[in-house]
Amino acid sequence: MTTSTTTKPRVLLCRTLPPQSLHRITTEPSIQLIQSTGTSREEFLELARGVDGILVKLTEKVDDELLDAAGPQLKVISTMSVGYDHINVPACKARGVRLGNTPDVLTDATAELTIGLLLATARRFGEALRAPKTGDWQAWTPTWMCGTQLTGKTVGLVGFGRIGVAVAERLQAFKLGKLLYASPSEKPHAAGRLNAVHLPLPRLLAESDIVIVTCALTPETKHLFCTATFSQMKSTAIFINTARGQIVKQDDLIHALKNGTIAAAGLDVTDPEPLPSNHELLQLDNAVVLPHVGSATIETREAMAHLAIDNLLSGLAGAKMPAEI
Ligand code: DGY
Repeated sequence: MTTSTTTKPRVLLCRTLPPQSLHRITTEPSIQLIQSTGTSREEFLELARGVDGILVKLTEKVDDELLDAAGPQLKVISTMSVGYDHINVPACKARGVRLGNTPDVLTDATAELTIGLLLATARRFGEALRAPKTGDWQAWTPTWMCGTQLTGKTVGLVGFGRIGVAVAERLQAFKLGKLLYASPSEKPHAAGRLNAVHLPLPRLLAESDIVIVTCALTPETKHLFCTATFSQMKSTAIFINTARGQIVKQDDLIHALKNGTIAAAGLDVTDPEPLPSNHELLQLDNAVVLPHVGSATIETREAMAHLAIDNLLSGLAGAKMPAEI
C-alpha cells in the first residue's frame, strides 16, 4: 500500500527561512520537506535528486547541473529574492520548470537601505564611527570629517524599476537640484510624478553628483561600471550600488577611488560575496561597504519567504503563481 507521504510532492528547502515562514513550510501538510544544511554544493545536488520543487536563495546557482541532478519530475523552483541572475532561466524554461521570485515585498526595505547607504557615504559614517573608538576624535574643527550635502545636488538613478522609483520617492525629501534616470525605456508616469528626467547613460554620468545603481544584473549591465564609465563621472561624484556586485568591474572601481576619478562609493553588493575581510576595498576610507543587507528587515524577510512559499505551492499545484518569472 502506498503511504500518503510518498504521494506528496517532495520539496527541497535550501538551508533555512525566517521563523514564521520556516514554521509554515515545515508544517505544510501537502508536501514532504527536505532541508539542506548549506554546507556544500555536493550535498545540495544530492538532496535535489527526485524532488518536485526547490526553494532557493540567491546564493544557489540554478543551472543545468542542478536541473540534471533533480531530474525530469522537477516542476518548480522558487527563489527567495527579486533578482534571478543566479538562475539559468532558458535552461529551466526548456525543461518546463516554472520559476517564481519575490518582487515588491522588498522594495521599501531596499530603498530605505539605499538612502541610508547614500547618507553614510556622503557624510563619511565609516570614518566618523571609527574616530571616537580609535582616539582620532579631537576638538571640533571647521573642516574635520566634512562630507557632501545632498541639498541642491543632481542625483542620477541607473535603473528606474520598482526599487529605483522607491529610492526616487524617498529622495524627494532632500531638496535635490535635479533627479535624472537612465533605463532602457522611458517611464513617463513615475518620472512625471517624481520630476525625474530621462537621459542616456553618458549624459547622466557626466551631470550627476551622485549616481545610484538599482538596475538588475543582465548580460547588458554586467560590468557596466568600469574605467570607461567612471571616467565619465565627476571627480566629486559619489557612486552607490545596492543592486548586484557584478554590475561593477570592482578592480576598476578600486582604481577610480584610489586615483580620485570619483570621490566615494557606497556598496551593499560586491563581487564576490562575502568579500574576504582583507580585501583592498575594505581598506579604503572613501568606500562604505555593507554585506548585502538591502532587504534585511525582519518584516521584509518574512514577506519574501512567505511569497517564495506561495510561489512554490502554487507551482506544485499547477496553479497561477503570485510572482512567476
Ligand atoms: C534580492 O532579492 O535580489 C536581493 O538582492 C536580496 O536582498
